[in-house]
Amino acid sequence: MSFALLFSYMSKILVSGGAGFIGSTLVDKLIDQGHTVTVLDSLVSGSRDYLNLAADFWEIDLLDDSLISRFQEAGFDLVYHLAAQIDVRKSVDDPIFDNRVNVLGGLNILEASRQSNVKKVIFSSTGGAIYGETEEIPTSEYAATYPLSPYGINKLALEKYFNYYYQLYGLNYTILRFANVYGPRQYKGGEAGVIALFTEAMAHDKPCVLYGDGKQTRDFVYVDDVVDALILAGGIDCRGEINISTGTEIDMWQMITAIESAAGQKLKLTLSPGRLGEQRRSVLANARALEILNWRPAVSFTEGVRRTYDWVKQQAL
Ligand SMILES: NC(=O)c1ccc[n+]([C@@H]2O[C@H](COP(=O)([O-])OP(=O)(O)OC[C@H]3O[C@@H](n4cnc5c(N)ncnc54)[C@H](O)[C@@H]3O)[C@@H](O)[C@H]2O)c1
Repeated sequence: MSFALLFSYMSKILVSGGAGFIGSTLVDKLIDQGHTVTVLDSLVSGSRDYLNLAADFWEIDLLDDSLISRFQEAGFDLVYHLAAQIDVRKSVDDPIFDNRVNVLGGLNILEASRQSNVKKVIFSSTGGAIYGETEEIPTSEYAATYPLSPYGINKLALEKYFNYYYQLYGLNYTILRFANVYGPRQYKGGEAGVIALFTEAMAHDKPCVLYGDGKQTRDFVYVDDVVDALILAGGIDCRGEINISTGTEIDMWQMITAIESAAGQKLKLTLSPGRLGEQRRSVLANARALEILNWRPAVSFTEGVRRTYDWVKQQAL
């Protein structure tokens, strides 16, 4: 039986971080497809409101002692590991905490998966924080990695453990390195969520702060496209890292224009000097995602921002 067929018959899937922004969107789609899903989430940044009621829910920490025995009892076929401490600034302030969640927590997931014969684990890593300032623009998976934060370092460290578990125990895996994901349900704390912050400010008619000259760029990929890539990754037998991105650089002024046209009004902006250590350009090549997953982003930036703003506005009513 091919791996793709195996996935289509899979019934038991665990999603760590399944109450969060990307994880809950993934869980909804997996359940729509008829899979049996368990969510593991401590709700530290996720929300009970986003939990799919058809999913089983374990409200526990990644480092919970019961993880291995719970996995053995449940017998999952596939595990998506998305739970993480996602705030880059917090990782700078408290690198030990970041390491505990993002390395030791991930290691607990790997151990539980290995000891319960999970067939495959998919890990949500980061492209935005792993490559660092690089001359390779757009940046491919083959570029050297020079992460500029403990968050990026810890994501990279866990990537290496995935490869190690495959080499030693044959635990199958795929690593997806996301660019800057945006869309409905994005947590407004943390650094990744500039679109979440600005759409929220717009919907509440509040000012927001633009740092630097606004010419810094990011590669914004819409959450539904990311979820499609995660689902495709469940059906392939291929290890290694795959960027999930649009390959398009968007600067802060282009982002502001897209939000203003979605809302039909001007944002109230406060300008502030650039922040030390902030990456100037970030854009990831996505040829490997097309080649291996047959994935390409389907939602344009204008459309994605419009959907995000409509959702934020609806929440504000
Ligand atoms: N959003 C982005 O732009 C982006 C970019 C690159 C990578 N990622 C990765 O994608 C994944 C999902 O990110 P998101 O944007 O949905 O963030 P999120 O904060 O909405 O989701 C993370 C979830 O993990 C849970 N969690 C955190 N620590 C936990 C712990 N110790 N034990 C159990 N649960 C815990 C949170 O409650 C939350 O529900 C993360 O691994 C993140 O690093 C996100």
